[in-house]
Amino acid sequence: METYRAIVTKRDTRAFDSKPIPEDVLGRILQAGRMAGSAKAAEPVRAVVVRAQAQKEALAACGRFTPQIPTCAAAVVLVLVPEPDQPPGQFAYFRGPFDAGRAGQNIMLAAWSEGIASCPVTLHDNDCARAVLGLPEGHLVANVIALGYPGGKDPTTGSRPRMPVEQYVRWERWG
Ligand SMILES: Cc1cc2nc3c(=O)[nH]c(=O)nc-3n(C[C@H](O)[C@H](O)[C@H](O)COP(=O)(O)O)c2cc1C
Repeated sequence: METYRAIVTKRDTRAFDSKPIPEDVLGRILQAGRMAGSAKAAEPVRAVVVRAQAQKEALAACGRFTPQIPTCAAAVVLVLVPEPDQPPGQFAYFRGPFDAGRAGQNIMLAAWSEGIASCPVTLHDNDCARAVLGLPEGHLVANVIALGYPGGKDPTTGSRPRMPVEQYVRWERWG
């Protein structure tokens, strides 16, 4: 799929087919996440791939709007490692959320270019997610990317409309 078309047709999809994602395709998708740049080239993002049903269900219980996690083929959990040089017991994530967003969008667009739909999912309870995944202290789940071949209706339909471009873009100054 041509890049611009992949970007503008990608919609967040919550209905998946049960078909698994082939290993080579999943490998390319993860590689796309790994190649995202990061502030100071710090590479604070890691990916935990969850495919086991019980593990997906346990993860879903850590968020509030998560029904797509148990039914997806693979949940890619984007984890932020804490920034270095912090006082003991304190953790900082100054630039990490933007870095995780870049990785997540790379993953979703690489997936969509291969016909695989996706949805970002928030895990509101980080302690719960840490326990399920066995994350070390201070590691933060930025987001989960639920991946799978589309199930049900056409994934490019039924999305939320966007604001008009005139409202979105300002030129030179805000007002
Ligand atoms: C940071 C972030 C967190 C999100 N968390 C959730 C979530 O917890 N559950 C969910 O169903 N959708 C979640 N979404 C998906 C949004 O609801 C979706 O991007 C929005 O509805 C636009 O969807 P569309 O592109 O299909 O129009 C999240 C999206 C983002 C960017």
